[in-house]
Amino acid sequence: MRARRIASIFAAVLVGCGGDGSSSSADSSGQVDDAGTGASTGGSSGGGSSSVGSSSASTTASSSATSATASESSGPATSADSGDSGGPSGPATEENLKVALFGDQGSGADPKAVYQLALDEGADLILLMGDFDYEDDPALFHAEMVEVLGDSFPVFGVIGNHDVAAWSGYRDVLQTRLDAIPGATCTGGDIGGMSSCKFKGLHFVLSGIGTLGTDAEQEQFLEQSLQEDDSIWSICVWHKNQTDMQAGDKGNEVGWNVFQICQDNGGFVAMGHEHSYARTLTLTDVGNEAAGHGAVGNPETIDVALGSTFSVCTGLGGSSIRDYDPSRHDDDTWWASIYTNNLYMKNGMDIASFQANYGALFIEFHVDGDPTKANAYFKNIDGEITDEFTIVKN
Ligand SMILES: [Fe+2]
Repeated sequence: MRARRIASIFAAVLVGCGGDGSSSSADSSGQVDDAGTGASTGGSSGGGSSSVGSSSASTTASSSATSATASESSGPATSADSGDSGGPSGPATEENLKVALFGDQGSGADPKAVYQLALDEGADLILLMGDFDYEDDPALFHAEMVEVLGDSFPVFGVIGNHDVAAWSGYRDVLQTRLDAIPGATCTGGDIGGMSSCKFKGLHFVLSGIGTLGTDAEQEQFLEQSLQEDDSIWSICVWHKNQTDMQAGDKGNEVGWNVFQICQDNGGFVAMGHEHSYARTLTLTDVGNEAAGHGAVGNPETIDVALGSTFSVCTGLGGSSIRDYDPSRHDDDTWWASIYTNNLYMKNGMDIASFQANYGALFIEFHVDGDPTKANAYFKNIDGEITDEFTIVKN
């Protein structure tokens, strides 16, 4: 199975490799069963699911969860009133703007070490992929952030299934932090559940797809937000996955529409939920598994454009480190890098000996004086860089 997987990856990316990729174990904090939250939605791969939905509808309707922010984006967007949906000539980020992305943290030493890593790497902001502490304890979440990051370091987060039961408290934590970030704007309503944010020229949409509200309203909000913003860089952020876009055993919980909307509008996707790291090649037909999701190019260079995207699951924030699932992924042909408890492949190269650990994906935008170029890497709390690539916006 492994040989077949590797062979198919080679076919896709034309990269040589070696090693058999055996494993190590670093599951230090005990597995948390993500499937086990009662409050979360079952999501769907089609549409129309709802869950915590009614509360979402009301928070969305009441909107203005964003005091420090720009105006409400309440009017329906159409193609006609959109800008260029983030073409390479749109507004740039600040030079060398660096974002840290991670999710599924838990509490205690490991997530705090990942926060510290973000500081040490000089990140300008953190995007949390959801499932904050697994204890329904917003006060704990807040206290651990403050302990390491202080009161006003820019942190934005999206709702995870384990955040549903105490969501109003988490939302307050996120809102309080947003209010303390000069120049940050989030519009649309529920901060972390359905919001379109801008910080130092970087645009990102925080969607509760699969967890909060109906799929249809989340899809509409995502599309509207991307079409209304013409920033060079937009990140589509949500917590849950499709099986093909993570390396473990997660099911199809958000549907393909949101991926396709992000691809069509020149964004790329960041998720948590599965407690490992997995990044695709450039995808030009996301959702079409028979076509390998339209994977093209090489692992080191990702091309993002209208109709071209990539997806990354970065769920090593501190809760646990999970296994690669061969039964679901040995035939996959669209991966650039996978970093799990029992399998590690870096840019198509299998790494035989390793000890997986927690960490974050860092993306530095507007590098080398080029607003359309970004450098990205995953670094763990041992200081090892386990993935490294360049993203170009066309
Ligand atoms: Fe989760």
